[in-house]
Amino acid sequence: MPGMRQHSGGTPLTDWSTVDEYFIDALVPQDEALLAARASGAETTLPQAEISPNQGAFLHLLTQLAGARRVLEFGTLAGYSTIWFARAVGPEGHVVTLELEPGNAAIATTNLERAGVADRVEVLVGPAADTAERLAEAGVEPFDLVFIDADKPSNPVYLAAALNLTRSGAVIVIDNVVRHGEVVRPQSGNPAVAGVRKAVEDIAAHPDLDATALQTVGIKGWDGFVIARRR
Ligand code: DHB
Ligand code: MG
Repeated sequence: MPGMRQHSGGTPLTDWSTVDEYFIDALVPQDEALLAARASGAETTLPQAEISPNQGAFLHLLTQLAGARRVLEFGTLAGYSTIWFARAVGPEGHVVTLELEPGNAAIATTNLERAGVADRVEVLVGPAADTAERLAEAGVEPFDLVFIDADKPSNPVYLAAALNLTRSGAVIVIDNVVRHGEVVRPQSGNPAVAGVRKAVEDIAAHPDLDATALQTVGIKGWDGFVIARRR
C-alpha cells in the first residue's frame, strides 16, 4: 500500500485519520460555529469537500504569518474555510469568497453570520472566473492571500485571475493538488489532474512566483497544497 511504514514494533502505521484526529483534538479547538459549518457541508453540492480542521488552522496561521488583511477565496461551499480566513484577518480585515451555486452561498451566509464574521466577508455568487474579472475591472484593492479551491479544471484560469488581483508579496494557495497521487497520471484523462498540472506549469514558468507543493495525509486521505508567493 502506498505510504505504508513500519514503526519499531513492526505494525503498519497507515491510520492517517486517527493521527489527524489526535492533532485536531489536541491543538484545534472548534467552536459551535465551525462545527455547524462543517456539518452543513453535507447540504452543499459537494459534501465532505471542506478542508480538515487541521488544514483550517494551517491556513489561519499562514494568513496571519503573511500579515494578510485581504483574502480572496475561489470556492465557498458551506463557508468552513471562509470562517478560518475571516477570523485570521480580524475585524479590520476583509474576505471575498466566490461561489457558483446560490444554494451553497446561502448556506455559507448563514454559517458566516453564526460565526460572527459576516460583516467582513462578501459572498459573491456566479462563475468565479467572471466574478474575478469584474473585480479586476472595478479596480478593487489588491488581495494579500488567495485560496483556490473551486472546480479543479479551472485552476489555471483562477491562477491567472489571482495574479491579476494580488500585490507583490501575496500568497497563493491551491487545494487538492495531489488527489491520491493521481496528479502524476496525466494520461488518465482526468480534467482535474489536467487543471492542477497546467496551473503548476504556469507557476513554474512565471518569473515572479516562488512555489512549492506539500503533500498532506489525514481525514481527507492523501492530498496536498501548492503554496506560491509573488516576489
Ligand atoms: C473535491 C473538491 C475539493 O475542494 C476537495 O477539497 C476535495 C474534493 C472534489 O471535487 O471532489
Ligand atoms: Mg478543496
